[in-house]
Amino acid sequence: MKYVYLGLRSLRLSGRYLGFVDVRIENIEDRWMKKVLVTGGAGYIGSHIVKALLEAGDEVVTFDNLSEGHRDAVVGGDLVQGDLSDGPLLQSLFSKYEFDAVMHFAANCRVGESVKDPEKYYKNNVCNLLNLLAVMRRHHVNRMIFSSTAAVYGNPVKVPIEELHPLQPINPYGFTKLAVENILRDYSRAYGLISVSLRYFNAAGADPMAQLGESHDPETHLIPRVLAVASGRLAEVEVFGTDYPTEDGTCIRDYIHVNDLALAHLAALKHLRGGGENLIVNLGNSRGYSVKEIIKCAERITQKKIRVVHSSRREGDPPVLVCDNSQARRQLHWQPKISSLDEIIQTSWKWEQNRRY
Ligand code: UFG
Repeated sequence: MKYVYLGLRSLRLSGRYLGFVDVRIENIEDRWMKKVLVTGGAGYIGSHIVKALLEAGDEVVTFDNLSEGHRDAVVGGDLVQGDLSDGPLLQSLFSKYEFDAVMHFAANCRVGESVKDPEKYYKNNVCNLLNLLAVMRRHHVNRMIFSSTAAVYGNPVKVPIEELHPLQPINPYGFTKLAVENILRDYSRAYGLISVSLRYFNAAGADPMAQLGESHDPETHLIPRVLAVASGRLAEVEVFGTDYPTEDGTCIRDYIHVNDLALAHLAALKHLRGGGENLIVNLGNSRGYSVKEIIKCAERITQKKIRVVHSSRREGDPPVLVCDNSQARRQLHWQPKISSLDEIIQTSWKWEQNRRY
């Protein structure tokens, strides 16, 4: 419990002095301590959430090692450059600021890389999370919002995918994210940590003002690669597999606008601040598009012909990933706002033409 201490006050009744009382206002936590720590806040998704938090009136501290993130992507609040493996730095961060919640984005997220170098993924995605939770415990910060992923499901046995779908990751990336979900569950039972894990499907799009957008190096995601061809930064885009058991033979994914992810994070924060329980929910549009449909839509929006090369399947790609988002709607009172594929790609195209980093 946090208090504001107002000191000793004399107590009088009808002018008669009765004594001194010790005056405190209890539980000011929610009113006066709205600093949110955003780890990985300089990255693609984290930076859009930092902007949304600032617009919602929260005070934000971004903690990012800038290995993949961009300084220019942090549009406000404080930026602390550092790594989650640095225990003393985390300790001083939590001593300097009072946080009422942590949003944890800092992680490696390339499926193929996780297969080649699992140690990097277990260290950065799991060990570093343990460091963060340790310092949170020490400083009595017990609210966390965690970026999880559809990769925890592996190859779906039933589509649309509900949260109760079997959890059978097919790569180390998915295993690290599932490990964190399990750690959060156990820490909740043992230490009272309360968390919301958000299982993103395919994050896409950009800030409609084009102040922020997707910029990975190397870029592996479909939509930015397709648009890089449209703008001439790339010569062609490969289509990984045309023999999937789908209507046009290419993989189907559920693309969700990054600002809709941001809205879900704000809703999750509200849920936790309101005393809500642990939650794990899918975030997607519950609508799937094939790789070919994405390319066709991008051609229509950019008015450019996109050069395509058909390649073999990419390892670890399930044919269809589409979520059932009804839990997020029900539990977080959330719904996607930029749900049409046209709008999603339009925002990415605007960013592609006005890239700042
Ligand atoms: N694709 C291509 N060509 C490309 C890039 C992608 O054909 O140049 C295809 C992929 O094979 C896949 C689809 O486009 O079928 C989407 O691929 P992305 O790389 O854009 O996204 P993923 O579906 O691989 O990745 C997302 C998240 C991951 C998560 C994964 C779960 O970004 O964090 O879903 O499968 F792990």
